[in-house]
Amino acid sequence: QTLLLGPTLTFDGDPMAEPWQEAVRIDSRGGVLLEDGRITAVGDGDTLSAAHPMAEAVRYGENHLICPGFVDAHVHYPQTAIIASWGKRLIDWLNDYTFPEEMRLEDPAYARAIAARHLDLTRANGTTTVASYCTIHPHSADAIFEEAAARGQRVVAGKTCMDRNAPEALRDTAQSAYDDSKALIARWHGQGRATYAITPRFSPTSTPEQLSALGALWAEHPDCLMQTHLSEQTDEIAWVRGLYPEARDYLDTYEAHGLLGARGLYGHAIHLEAREIDRLAEVGAAVVHCPTSNTFIGSGLFDLSGLRARGIRIGLATDTGGGSSFSMLRTMAAAYEIGQLRGTPLHAAELMWLATAGSARSLHLSDRIGRLAPGMEGDISVLNLASTPAIAQRVAQAKDIWEAVFATIMMGDDRAIAEVFIGGTRA
Ligand code: GUN
Ligand code: ZN
Repeated sequence: QTLLLGPTLTFDGDPMAEPWQEAVRIDSRGGVLLEDGRITAVGDGDTLSAAHPMAEAVRYGENHLICPGFVDAHVHYPQTAIIASWGKRLIDWLNDYTFPEEMRLEDPAYARAIAARHLDLTRANGTTTVASYCTIHPHSADAIFEEAAARGQRVVAGKTCMDRNAPEALRDTAQSAYDDSKALIARWHGQGRATYAITPRFSPTSTPEQLSALGALWAEHPDCLMQTHLSEQTDEIAWVRGLYPEARDYLDTYEAHGLLGARGLYGHAIHLEAREIDRLAEVGAAVVHCPTSNTFIGSGLFDLSGLRARGIRIGLATDTGGGSSFSMLRTMAAAYEIGQLRGTPLHAAELMWLATAGSARSLHLSDRIGRLAPGMEGDISVLNLASTPAIAQRVAQAKDIWEAVFATIMMGDDRAIAEVFIGGTRA
């Protein structure tokens, strides 16, 4: 037994659906009991100490916050080494930076090294679960599942499928995408802490035949997730229109091939039409907001408040390497800034919820991760709310704990991560 004592962040409700004051709470003298990899009790620190005198107590001072580990709902681990590549918009960025790097993962040893590097960098930033695209190589999925298993870490991943509009060395076929994905599902889905996500990259790099094959695979394995990209840039949308002349809109290219559903994750979803929003809401799909990517690649301003008003589930993500940071703190800051540009700033409580419970819910993992509550897995990040002189001097003036949390969201980085627990073990 380990008992973490200090300020705790807990959720009683859903701040996307009700006022955050009713849904999110910080208990300045809280406690979290960890046992056999899970959280078994959360509550008043003194009460838990008295009830569990034999537990190893770890005390964090008042300038700390014990939080659920961050959940990054959309990353491309193969792009780790090309993060922050200058000066291109989506299609040129893919062709000039991304595809050449993804080709290098043809070497299984390189794939394994990059998967390890990605999990190390994200963990240093307080992220305990990522949902990652891989490359077309099946061994690239093995690489991240194996590295996550070695860390006892929950992970979502899937082999990326592309059978057109990509270099020859990065193309599979409709049949091989189906066969390889099916074999990976058998090998990994539900093994330990692994979840498989069927992963057509996006409509422009799949033929209708490949989308249909992957839609059929999803129908055979409805408990798998499905992740893809949707309406990120206007040039991309025009390209999709040309490639799929019968489709009513971008989302319809997925819908027509069995790739729209409640367990679908649609990354970006910036330039949506009314019908697309209606359908996403009707089927209960999730969209994933990737704010540093959207400004870095010049995609546009995600309408979080509009989609939330429609009850659409929203995850938060870095989208590295299109995103410009491995940090979910920086990602929350960018979401705040985009909210400001749209006139709808998010409160720190809402941002913290999105980066933890909200992302977990988008991944259909909210019964396991994303909250400090009995029965949840022991994935925890402890923030230092005074990690740099610049933040500390602002916190010295904070009127309440939320002002302090907000300063770390806006200015914090990996130095703000005091400790990370994965599956109940200090990492
Ligand atoms: N659309 C298709 N592939 C990608 C990718 O790798 N990154 C981003 N940001 N958008 C994409
Ligand atoms: Zn992406």
